[in-house]
Amino acid sequence: MRYKGIIFDLDGVICHTDHYHYLAWKQLADKIGVYFDETINNRLRGVSRMDSLEIILERWTGEPLSGEEKEQLADEKNTIYKELLKQMSPKDLSPEVKETLEHLRTRGLQLAIGSSSRNARFILGQIGLGDFFDAISDGNNITKSKPHPEVFLMAADYLKLKPSDCLVVEDAKAGIDAAKAAGMDSAAIGDAFGYSQATYNLFTFSKLIQICSAQ
Ligand code: BG6
Ligand code: MG
Repeated sequence: MRYKGIIFDLDGVICHTDHYHYLAWKQLADKIGVYFDETINNRLRGVSRMDSLEIILERWTGEPLSGEEKEQLADEKNTIYKELLKQMSPKDLSPEVKETLEHLRTRGLQLAIGSSSRNARFILGQIGLGDFFDAISDGNNITKSKPHPEVFLMAADYLKLKPSDCLVVEDAKAGIDAAKAAGMDSAAIGDAFGYSQATYNLFTFSKLIQICSAQ
């Protein structure tokens, strides 16, 4: 097989938490009087919590905020977000994603998560995939956000695979760029579909089976 491992982004690939991110940031932005909409929310895809806050604060017109104040705002957003995540259940894992993952596993592929989120393990638990993946590289083990390749390089390292043996599946252009910087092929889905830097485009998740079957 062309690959030995697949590294999946979480939000927007395995499940959909983007609307919860939006609702939580919107609540915070409204509270501090900063304009925020779905278009700005799209720029937060794959971006770390603190970098997301910086994007939201581009429209902040008050006195400059200290690092501590920014940490407080990010914590406040995360509290709202985590409360919303409690609504998630195994019903938020589509049958197509579940069956494709199981199929890829039976083909002997190593499967990992490569997510910027510090809530990745919590989300995986909510959707019933708490023990499924062979490795999880997430926002807790990295210092640099996508498009930096760190999160994927760590995932390959956890799987004990060479980057060139791994395929990344991503819905964020920043994630496709990160895969390229890591020396990995990538498959773009959702928001990243059609992005020129991707190796493949996934019209639908199950297409991964074909990609991985090719020599
Ligand atoms: C990524 C999301 O998976 O995680 C981003 O695409 C988000 O939108 C980032 O900002 C960080 O998430 P968390 O859960 O650590 O706040
Ligand atoms: Mg994503």
